Amino acid sequence: MGELAGSGAEFADNLGTIALDNAFDAMMVTDAELDEPGPRILYVNAAFTRLTGYAAEEVLGKTPRILQGPKTDRGALDLVRQGLVAGEPVASSGINYRKDGGEFHVQWRIEPVRDDSGEITFFVSTQRDVTERMNVERMKGETVASVSHEMRGPLTGILGALDLIKRQPDQLSESIKHLVEIADLSCQRLLRLVETMLDVQKLAAGPMQVDLVAVDLVPLVAQTLALHRGYSEELEVEIFTEVPMTQAWVLGDEDRLIQVVTNLLSNAVKFSSSGSQVRVALRRADGKLILEVSDAGPGIPESFLPYLFERFACGPSSNTTRHRGIGLGLAITRDIVELLGGELSYVTEEGVGTAFTVALAEQVSSVTGLA
Ligand SMILES: Nc1ncnc2c1ncn2[C@@H]1O[C@H](COP(=O)(O)OP(=O)(O)O)[C@@H](O)[C@H]1O
Ligand SMILES: [Mg+2]
Repeated sequence: MGELAGSGAEFADNLGTIALDNAFDAMMVTDAELDEPGPRILYVNAAFTRLTGYAAEEVLGKTPRILQGPKTDRGALDLVRQGLVAGEPVASSGINYRKDGGEFHVQWRIEPVRDDSGEITFFVSTQRDVTERMNVERMKGETVASVSHEMRGPLTGILGALDLIKRQPDQLSESIKHLVEIADLSCQRLLRLVETMLDVQKLAAGPMQVDLVAVDLVPLVAQTLALHRGYSEELEVEIFTEVPMTQAWVLGDEDRLIQVVTNLLSNAVKFSSSGSQVRVALRRADGKLILEVSDAGPGIPESFLPYLFERFACGPSSNTTRHRGIGLGLAITRDIVELLGGELSYVTEEGVGTAFTVALAEQVSSVTGLA
């Protein structure tokens, strides 16, 4: 790696070195030894030193493990190893550590390099610091989540007020009635958008966490039904309730439970045809509270059942305006119900209808005040 001179091959070699040393991304070349203690570092470029704080002479002959630490994802590393053993290029991301111990989020790609006989002799890896991008993404996600969450309250307030206005039809002129109707429908739409944003955010946020508190399902169901009144009227679907008890306590998280009822109810309503009925029932069985949402809609085709709870899976009719969705509702509903230690099940028959049930352990102590 001397000065730019000599034969054509040497010249090309020098250019290669110049390119590597001036590359924007950190680069590292190792030998292809995958058994313990792992591949040894043969070359790193200047960007590697900028990224990690290690000078080339400090890392040559060592293994890339010097960059790993407590938050490095071992599972991801195992997958990388498997890919390399199979001789495939692998790309991944994770947390690495600088010489001074500082963490950074790195995205990397490793390419195996083969000799003329096809045997892998080196691995070339490219690494890019994505810490800042990850931080921005996280902040964006948190903002969307808290804004969506905070919007639900005022929207519910506006809908409640509009409802009160609508209950006094004698005092309203026809044109005001019409305007109130428009305001009501627009609010319902906005609320559904907010619910979708909350769904997407839950998905992006990774494993869900809940604070379990005693929640009474009776007012919760009534409140969620009230929120869907406009939607069901718009689609000309009638909602019936069968709630024979005055209290129904479970251990849960109010927001998440509202989302469960919302997702099941909005599906039942949107997949029902005009003029049909949706039933929401709450009953007790074997120490459990069972919430059932049933419709007389088209049923779910058998071919779709394996994908029913998959994220972003929408059934065959979901591209129509009436049925439009993004396929997250049931995936999230199942996550929430499982997180609360409950069970989600369904029965469906094509041409007859669908019923989803959520079973949650009843909290008797909250009723008797012993908690
Ligand atoms: N009550 C129901 N009746 C008929 N099909 C349903 C019902 N509930 C869910 N589905 C089917 O399951 C799919 C996934 O539902 P979901 O996860 O809520 O997504 P989305 O409502 O956004 O389409 C729907 O697209 C639909 O095909
Ligand atoms: Mg849905």
